[in-house]
Amino acid sequence: MKVLLIGSGGREHALAWKLAASPLLEKLYAAPGNPGIAEHAECVPLDIRDHASVVDFCRDKAVDFVVVGPEAPLVAGLADDLISAGIPVFGPTADAARLEGSKGFTKDLCARYDIPTAAYGRFADAAHAKDYVRRSGTPIVIKADGLAAGKGVVIAMTEEEAFAAIDDCFSGAFGDSGAEVVVEEFMEGEEASFFCLCDGKTALPFGTAQDHKRVGEGDTGANTGGMGAYSPAPVMTPEMVSRVMREIVEPTLKGMEEMGSPFVGALFVGLMITVDGPKLIEYNVRFGDPECQVLMPRLEDDLLALLKGAVDGQLAHMSARWRDDAALTVVMAARGYPGTPEKGSVIRGLDAAAAADAEVFHAGTALEDGAVVASGGRVLNVTALGSNVTEARDRAYHAVDRIDWPEGFCRRDIGWRAIEREAGEA
Ligand code: AMP
Ligand code: GLY
Repeated sequence: MKVLLIGSGGREHALAWKLAASPLLEKLYAAPGNPGIAEHAECVPLDIRDHASVVDFCRDKAVDFVVVGPEAPLVAGLADDLISAGIPVFGPTADAARLEGSKGFTKDLCARYDIPTAAYGRFADAAHAKDYVRRSGTPIVIKADGLAAGKGVVIAMTEEEAFAAIDDCFSGAFGDSGAEVVVEEFMEGEEASFFCLCDGKTALPFGTAQDHKRVGEGDTGANTGGMGAYSPAPVMTPEMVSRVMREIVEPTLKGMEEMGSPFVGALFVGLMITVDGPKLIEYNVRFGDPECQVLMPRLEDDLLALLKGAVDGQLAHMSARWRDDAALTVVMAARGYPGTPEKGSVIRGLDAAAAADAEVFHAGTALEDGAVVASGGRVLNVTALGSNVTEARDRAYHAVDRIDWPEGFCRRDIGWRAIEREAGEA
């Protein structure tokens, strides 16, 4: 098969690395890709916001299959335009991508299908949103309805903070994404990420992970896209996975189908495991970044066959096998992240790190005069396997320490919660 992969981050490097191992693959293109992805794919400088140019490229190169990594092109309808042109695509249509593109849509679906999630209200004006906050009390969670690159959520400890967050949203801090606000109950528990491949009717469980969203050690400081992750998530026992499938994922797929928007693609189920059981925090309509970087090294089966199975409606007849090993990834970020990262610094030692039993996925790099330089906030994802999270952590940091990049930083405590558990079990 000739495959086009859309995206340019660490998630897409991990996907490219795994797709490249598929016996079904004849040729891999990536748009726009990055220097790490270029080791497995021919990178093409397409503007992915220009759907017609993507369709033209696929026709010109006789691409048989497109895999979309990030959410923005899905919410913008890239899958719809490819499907209209007769090109098979792994990733949901714009209607189905509302599961990520509109928090209010997802909350209403949960209410209609009795899916456990935080109690909530949807508001198109500040006065009503504030009334709801007064009635509910604090802590409380304020969310811009639409895509806000992970920045549209405020956990308000006081009424004043909640009111300020509501005013921010309605004054345009998130553009159109904040035209509507969701106010919801604060849930307590342990967070976990759960993934499914979906073919519209059937969901195939596709791994679990936990990430670290805060920039600082001990899970402190500003929120980020994720500073590291590990898989599997110890809280996601087989019993918990079955319960989440039954109470959350299966009713969601049924609801989407009944609404005429069957979901095809990767469903990222963000969960809070509370004392009352698992509750949905949010859906994403794609693989997680950096969660994908710890799923791919653990997947034993052919990724391309599974993604194609999803698009062909064949998942009821398929399964995914995983290595028993744990995987852990450490995100190396450019100084300044998650604010304004410094760009252009030279990164050395990548070969030495790769020789140390780790995969170094590129997230935000560019080539300048033959040197790999930082070009984004999250720059590298240093990923290793081990017999448990502790061993994977040790291998990953051993490789991190071989990377010579004074302008970068990482957290040194990725995996701490699982590692404490493992120490307790030993
Ligand atoms: P989201 O963008 O919806 O994933 O929210 C970002 C983060 O905010 C989540 O990963 C949680 O840590 C936290 N969060 C979101 N909603 C809630 C909630 N209702 N209760 C507690 N924490 C939440
Ligand atoms: N790591 C969280 C996300 O991909 O949204």
